[in-house]
Amino acid sequence: MSSMAPTFTSQHEEDRMPDGLSRTATGLAVEDCDVVVNRLGLNVKGHDILTNIDLLVPRGRITVLVGPSGSGKSSLLRVLNRLWDTVPGARVSGQVLYRGLDVYGVGADPVWLRSRIGMVFQRPTPFPRSIYENIALPLRVHGKPSKQIPDLVERALRQAALWDEVKDRLKASAMTLSGGQQQRLCIARALAIEPDVLLLDEPASALDPNSRARIEELLLALKGQLTMLLVTHHLDQAKRVGDYAAVMMEGSLCAFGTVADVFADQTVPRVHAYLQTPH
Ligand SMILES: Nc1ncnc2c1ncn2[C@@H]1O[C@H](COP(=O)(O)OP(=O)(O)O)[C@@H](O)[C@H]1O
Ligand SMILES: [Mg+2]
Repeated sequence: MSSMAPTFTSQHEEDRMPDGLSRTATGLAVEDCDVVVNRLGLNVKGHDILTNIDLLVPRGRITVLVGPSGSGKSSLLRVLNRLWDTVPGARVSGQVLYRGLDVYGVGADPVWLRSRIGMVFQRPTPFPRSIYENIALPLRVHGKPSKQIPDLVERALRQAALWDEVKDRLKASAMTLSGGQQQRLCIARALAIEPDVLLLDEPASALDPNSRARIEELLLALKGQLTMLLVTHHLDQAKRVGDYAAVMMEGSLCAFGTVADVFADQTVPRVHAYLQTPH
């Protein structure tokens, strides 16, 4: 799809390296990251929801985003996908780069951006149509030739580890699937348009333990193929699947680094206390 990329103009050419803990704690190069966030802020109707966030999202890895409820995890994901654009009174400041392109820059197209950075929400959100159409529809919208669509639907369903369960009932309504299957369908739908980055907002928290384990396996299987930023409130899950971890508190990013380093670090007492508490 890169041929459809619009021209982006960075408003902050001189600011491409993030400051502070992000860079020094990990030794990551910006070139190895699909998303780079610099001094990001979000204000909604006079309230600061996010303040001064620097974050790197390394390519082909899972970065887990953890923190207490209300700390701004979902809000941050929504900034990366430009979902605040239509919210009255919401103002984003600072910079978000996707592969060096300023996603809030002049000429940046949110629809194109969302084809490169996909999103999976906490509650499964299948379209009230057939299983097949849930995948075929976005493929058509993104201009895939109709003769390719059946193969692409199958590929996406296989990638999301759902094919074997649905291959004999592709015409059935997506609403007949279980919650866990619906969530894998939503992941398949997001994968079908071959994004580089997948944002996942507690994708397994509304599911039973069995389905949760399947989603976890799926994310691990996708590692290396795409970049994932996963919000989870299960710290054990964060440790099992994460390569890098970011900890948010009260709208700020309080720690970022490898999962091992972040969970072992004791320099910020409230972060350490949070990470030691079973969730
Ligand atoms: N649409 C909105 N308008 C105003 N405030 C919001 C909106 N969405 C979230 N917030 C506020 O932003 C803060 C962070 O919320 P959220 O990002 O949902 O946190 P988390 O995902 O970490 O639980 C909360 O104080 C919440 O009330
Ligand atoms: Mg949330």
